[in-house]
Amino acid sequence: MPLLGVNIDHVATLRQARRCDYPDPVSAALICEKAGADSIVAHLREDRRHINDNDVVRLRKELSIRFNLEMSLAPGIVDIACRLKPVQATLVPERRQEITTEGGLDVVAQARRLKASCARMQDKGTAISLFIDPEQEQIDKTLELGIGIIEFHTGAYALAPTKAARDRELKKLTAMTAYARKFGLEVNVGHGLHYQNTRAVALIKGIHELNIGHAIISYAIDTGLFQAVKDMLALARVNGV
Ligand code: PXP
Repeated sequence: MPLLGVNIDHVATLRQARRCDYPDPVSAALICEKAGADSIVAHLREDRRHINDNDVVRLRKELSIRFNLEMSLAPGIVDIACRLKPVQATLVPERRQEITTEGGLDVVAQARRLKASCARMQDKGTAISLFIDPEQEQIDKTLELGIGIIEFHTGAYALAPTKAARDRELKKLTAMTAYARKFGLEVNVGHGLHYQNTRAVALIKGIHELNIGHAIISYAIDTGLFQAVKDMLALARVNGV
């Protein structure tokens, strides 16, 4: 049965829309933990558009479940990770202009840079995962670097415009999971998974963990808004109007 990692970035997105101190992504992470999540993912971006330095320090301190720091290879961020020593770090490509992480890391092109940064973090006891597209050459290069964990970017599957295209992407994820498992890699998946498209991916044999963020935080609004209005009405109608 696959594990579930919850990405809490978008709780911080809502906080940053007002630059105030709520909603608190760390409180949200503790709710996820209480609900049975196996890990918490937070992406400390270079532009700090949602999660900030204080959040990751608090997550590291307050969580009992695994904290998976999502991060780029930017030297400043690698320095922070080396000080923070998260249980796990997932390395992703990052572009300032992008709305979200648009594709996997090019492990082939970045091998040398990856090797040096990963070694620094591994020395501090952090397990390294590489966020890659489900492609054989990326898996082969990951193996060559001696890294034991990968996460497949499921964006192409999630955004496939037709059923035929979706089935093709699912087939690719299934085949590449089997290939990676053959060499003992831990295989995780994430990006764009939601309440309608997750089941098929969860059924792929060999998947270790699903990392899901946007859909869960969105669903929390859908399911929690009714009570939020009720509670505010109870405060607002002080004169029994
Ligand atoms: N895993 C990784 C490596 C990601 O970059 C993201 C997006 O931040 C996710 C999982 C979660 O994606 P989503 O928010 O679309 O569920």
